[in-house]
Amino acid sequence: MKKLIIISHPLVKRDLTILRDKRTSSPTFRAVLRRTASLMAYAVTEDLKLHQINVSTPLEKTRGHSVVDPIILVPILRAGLGLVGGFVEVLPNARVGHIGMYRDEETLTPVDYYLKLPKKLKDALLLILDPMLATGGSAVAAVTLLKEKGARKIRFVSLVASPEGVKVLSKAHPDVRIYTCALDRRLNKKGYILPGLGDAGDRMFGTGE
Ligand code: PRP
Ligand code: URA
Repeated sequence: MKKLIIISHPLVKRDLTILRDKRTSSPTFRAVLRRTASLMAYAVTEDLKLHQINVSTPLEKTRGHSVVDPIILVPILRAGLGLVGGFVEVLPNARVGHIGMYRDEETLTPVDYYLKLPKKLKDALLLILDPMLATGGSAVAAVTLLKEKGARKIRFVSLVASPEGVKVLSKAHPDVRIYTCALDRRLNKKGYILPGLGDAGDRMFGTGE
């Protein structure tokens, strides 16, 4: 299995174009990001293990399936919140932890300010949600933190990634699969992804205006 998986479904490509467009308003940005997240969730859970279970239809008994691994979603605040709704729509039993982290504007290094995780991380599949994988600093710090807390199976789910970020995260945590909808060209001097979509948190919450 490759460690970098590009989610290239046509509907994801369509939505990503809307999200990239600078004319897209915050309400539309939030709605489209949520919809895209559900599409991404299908790709990220494609290989989930299933238990066979019995089920009775109104007509007779048959065999059905339930998901084996407990799933924990871990959005990185703020922008990761925009992916949670779409994921829980298709994974309603997932528990949700939160990591508060922002990039220092000068040094571009992550500063963490909040952590609340569910219990029993060891046997769960953890999906870290963050639309942007830029320098990779936040992603590496988040994975490191979750491993320190006992997590063993972690996937990093982003909307847009830079080659620099993928390299940094893969080097620091080679066991972590990275999912993204687009591997963009490069970072600019301020650590923004080109072409990217700008500041995801600001665009979601209208704080850039
Ligand atoms: C953004 C984004 C990531 C981080 C990526 O968050 O949501 O968490 O930057 O950058 P990196 O790969 O260089 O670490 P930001 O720091 O802007 O915080 P916010 O979501 O609160 O706006
Ligand atoms: N964070 C964002 O929100 N956008 C970028 O392009 C890089 C980091």
